[in-house]
Amino acid sequence: MGFDQYHEPPGELSQDIRTFARMITSLIEEAEAISWYEQRMSVEKDKAAKAIMANAQKEEFKHFGMNLEFLLRKKKAWRAELEGILFKDGDIVALAGKAEKKVD
Ligand SMILES: [Fe+2]
Repeated sequence: MGFDQYHEPPGELSQDIRTFARMITSLIEEAEAISWYEQRMSVEKDKAAKAIMANAQKEEFKHFGMNLEFLLRKKKAWRAELEGILFKDGDIVALAGKAEKKVD
């Protein structure tokens, strides 16, 4: 098990910050798993195997969402930024620009 998620001496970090760093690492791992399943499914020829991979990827969506929600509850500015971008139609870059102005 690596300790690469810390960029500062772990002993100097509070428990909350260490938990935050662990959850960021988990978020990254869930995103990687989503990508790996996407890639596997794109090359898999066996329908049953592909269906199992799709089911497993769905679990990773849920894990990613739980990790993200945990982090957003801890970091209000992050939540505020994403509230202007996520689950909206329209140009993503334009939405991000508007969200940034609201948060400032
Ligand atoms: Fe997962």
